[in-house]
Amino acid sequence: MALIALGVCGGIGAYKAVEIARGLQKRGHDVAAIMTRSASRFVGPVTFEAITHRRVITDQFAEGANSDIEHISLATDAALLLVAPATANMIAKFAHGIADDFLTSLYLATRAPVLMAPAMNTNMLDHEAVRANMATLRTRGTRFVDPGDGYLACGWVGKGRLAEPEEVIEAADAILRPSATLKDRFVLVTAGPTFEDIDDVRYIGNRSSGKMGYALAAEAARRGARVLLVSGPSSLPVPPGVDVVRVRSADEMHTAVMGQAGVADVVIMAAAVADYTPRRRAGGKIEKSDAPLSLDLVRTRDILAELGATRGASANSVIVGFAAESGDPPVRAREKLLRKKADIIVANDIRRADAGFDADTNAVTLVTPEGDEDVPLGPKAQIASLILDRAEARLHRVAAN
Ligand code: CTP
Repeated sequence: MALIALGVCGGIGAYKAVEIARGLQKRGHDVAAIMTRSASRFVGPVTFEAITHRRVITDQFAEGANSDIEHISLATDAALLLVAPATANMIAKFAHGIADDFLTSLYLATRAPVLMAPAMNTNMLDHEAVRANMATLRTRGTRFVDPGDGYLACGWVGKGRLAEPEEVIEAADAILRPSATLKDRFVLVTAGPTFEDIDDVRYIGNRSSGKMGYALAAEAARRGARVLLVSGPSSLPVPPGVDVVRVRSADEMHTAVMGQAGVADVVIMAAAVADYTPRRRAGGKIEKSDAPLSLDLVRTRDILAELGATRGASANSVIVGFAAESGDPPVRAREKLLRKKADIIVANDIRRADAGFDADTNAVTLVTPEGDEDVPLGPKAQIASLILDRAEARLHRVAAN
C-alpha cells in the first residue's frame, strides 16, 4: 500500500483517470489527485474528491493549497508520481523544469519515481519536439505507459489515445511492488464456494464470491510465485500470471488440492468448502409432491484438516485456513488452528456487512500460535498483502529450522 500522487492533465482522456484512481485504490493504494486548470474543464474536481476522499488541488494559488499539510507533504510522502493523461504540454514542462502550477512544482520537489501515460494526437506524439522531451525525461528515469492505437477524440485514427486504465494501473503497481519475494515458490490458493448437486438442476451452495481468494492469488503472482488457483464456481476474472483449475464440488476441490499440495510452499484455503453434501445425487430432476422433502446429507472431507494431518512433523510449508464466524471469531478460530494443525487462521466476522462474503473490503483477525493480530477494515487486496507478509515470515522461519 502506497500513496500515489495522480496528476491529471487537460485532455479527453481525463475521464479515464477516474477509473485509474479507483483501480489503484482497489489494489490497496491511497491516491491524491492533482488536476491542472484545463483538466478541470473535462472532469469536475468533486469527482476525484469523492473517490479519493482527499481535497483536490486545481490551482497552486487556491486558498488552502499552501497551508494544507497533506498537500505540502505530498512531495515527500508520495511513493509515485503518476500523470495520466499526460499532455504534450506537461511533458514539455517536466522536461524543461518549468514550475508554473502545483503539478509541475510537485514534479521538481518530489524524489518519487515518475510514470507518465501520454495522450495526444498522432502527429503531436510523433513530433520531434515531443519525442525529444520524452527522451530527456527517460534519461532522468521517467517511465511511460505507451499510448494505445485507435480512434482518437479529434477524429483521427492512429496512436495517441490514453492506454487502457488497467494497463496504467498495472504499470504503476509494478513500480511500487516489493521485490519478487515469492520467486521460485509455489503457492496454492483455493477460492469461491462449492456447489453440491442435489439433482441435475439444483444444488447446495453458499454466498462466497471468491474475491478474497482471487485477491490472494493475484498478490502471490505479483510477488513472483507460481500460483495455482483452485476455484469453485465464480465469474471473477483470473488474475494475470495465475494458473486456474476449476472445480464444482467439495470432492472435486479435495482431489485438485491433494494432488498438488505436497509440493506447495504455501497453501491458502480461502474457499468456503461445503461441510455437507447429498449422500446421493438424484438423476434428472426431483419431482415435487405434497409430502415434505428431506435431504440426506453426509459430511465432506475436510481438506484443511487433511493437509495439516498429512504434512508431517518436519513440514517446511505454510498452511493458511479461513474461519467465517458469527460469534467470537478469534476464540473459535484458535480452536480451528489447533484442531486442523494450520499455521495461520484468518478469522472474519460474517455479521459485518462491510466484510466477508461478497464485500470488496474485509476486516479480519490473524490467529497464529504466537497470538492474535487484528487487521482493520481495508480493501481485500490490502488484506491479501498482509496475509502473504505473515505467510512469508513463517516460510522463512520454517526454512531456517
Ligand atoms: N475447509 C476445508 N474443507 C472442508 C470445509 C472447510 O478445507 N470440507 C476449510 C475452509 O477452506 C476454511 C476452513 O476450513 O479454510 C473453514 O473451516 P470450517 O470448520 O468449515 O469453518 P467455518 O466454515 O468457518 O465454520 P463452521 O465451523 O461453522 O463450519
